[in-house]
Amino acid sequence: MYEDFFGLSELPFNVTPDPRFLYRSTSHRDALAYITYGIFQRKGFIAVTGEVGVGKTTVVNAFIDLFRPSLEVAFIFSTKFPFEQILYLVCKDFGIEVEDKNKAQMLIMLNEFLITQYQNNRNTVLIIDEAHNLSPDVLEELRMLSNLETRDRKLLQIMMVGQPELETILNMNEMRQLRQRIPGICRITTLGRDEVEQYIMTRLRVAGSNGGGGGPHFTRDAFDEIYHYSGGIPRLINVLSDRLLLIGYVSNTRTLDGRLVREGIRDIQSQNVPAGERRIRPM
Ligand SMILES: Nc1ncnc2c1ncn2[C@@H]1O[C@H](COP(=O)(O)OP(=O)(O)O)[C@@H](O)[C@H]1O
Ligand SMILES: [Mg+2]
Repeated sequence: MYEDFFGLSELPFNVTPDPRFLYRSTSHRDALAYITYGIFQRKGFIAVTGEVGVGKTTVVNAFIDLFRPSLEVAFIFSTKFPFEQILYLVCKDFGIEVEDKNKAQMLIMLNEFLITQYQNNRNTVLIIDEAHNLSPDVLEELRMLSNLETRDRKLLQIMMVGQPELETILNMNEMRQLRQRIPGICRITTLGRDEVEQYIMTRLRVAGSNGGGGGPHFTRDAFDEIYHYSGGIPRLINVLSDRLLLIGYVSNTRTLDGRLVREGIRDIQSQNVPAGERRIRPM
C-alpha cells in the first residue's frame, strides 16, 4: 500500500515472528546465545520468558533458521491439552507415525525416533511455546520425557517459552525437581530508547530502505514518542510504526515527526482496546 511511496520492497512492520527482521538488541542476542548453548550442550531443559510481544517466538525462529540442518524440531503451542494429546502432537510434528493415542505406545515410538536421530548426529528439540499455560501435571510428564537418555546424553532437549508467569510456575516448590534441571531462566527484556531507534532502522533496512532520501525519515521526536507509547515492546512498536507510515503516505510526507506519531496513537486507540489490554492477545 505505502511501500512504493517510501521506496520499500515489502511491509517493514508486520506482526509475524519473522526472523529475517531480527534486530539483535543485547537482550535478544543474549537469548539466542542462551538457547544455542542450552541446546548444543544438551542441557535437557531450557526456559525463555518475556512479556507478550517482546520477541520470544522471533528469537526461537531465528535459532531454528540458523541451525536447521543439524536440528530435528517439533513446535507445540497448544498447551492447554492433557499430556496424551500433547504427546500425540509432538509425535505428529516429528513425523512419527502413531496408530492411536496410546501413551505407552507413543513413548516407545518416540524413544526409537530419538535414538535414530542421535545416531544420525541430529539434535532433537521440542519447543513448547505459550508454556505458561502448561498444567503442573503436564510439566511433570515432560520432566519424565526428558529422562530419555543414553548413558551420557539427553536424547531430547525441551525448550519452554512463555510469559513471565512461567518463572513463577517453575519456581513453585513442587516444581523443584524440574527447576533443578534448568540452567537458569532467560528473560527477554524490553528495548531501551536507543534500541527502539535501532530496531526501527533495522526493520526498515530489511524491508528495502537505503536510509537515504525517498525513504521514511523518523525524527528524534518521533522515536521518543514511539518509545514512550510502546514501552520498548516490539509488537507495539510495529503496530504504531505501521500506522505512522500510513499516515505519512496519506498526508504525502516522508518526514515522520512526533506530531504524526501522536496522531497514530490516537488512531490506534480509537479503533482498538487500550494498549494495556491489547497485550492479552496471544501471538
Ligand atoms: N529483536 C527483534 N527484531 C525484530 N523484530 C522483532 C524483535 N523482537 C520482536 N520483534 C517483532 O515483534 C513482533 C512480536 O514478536 P514475537 O516474537 O511474536 O513476540 P512474543 O513471542 O514474545 O509474543 C513480531 O512482529 C516480531 O517480528
Ligand atoms: Mg510468541
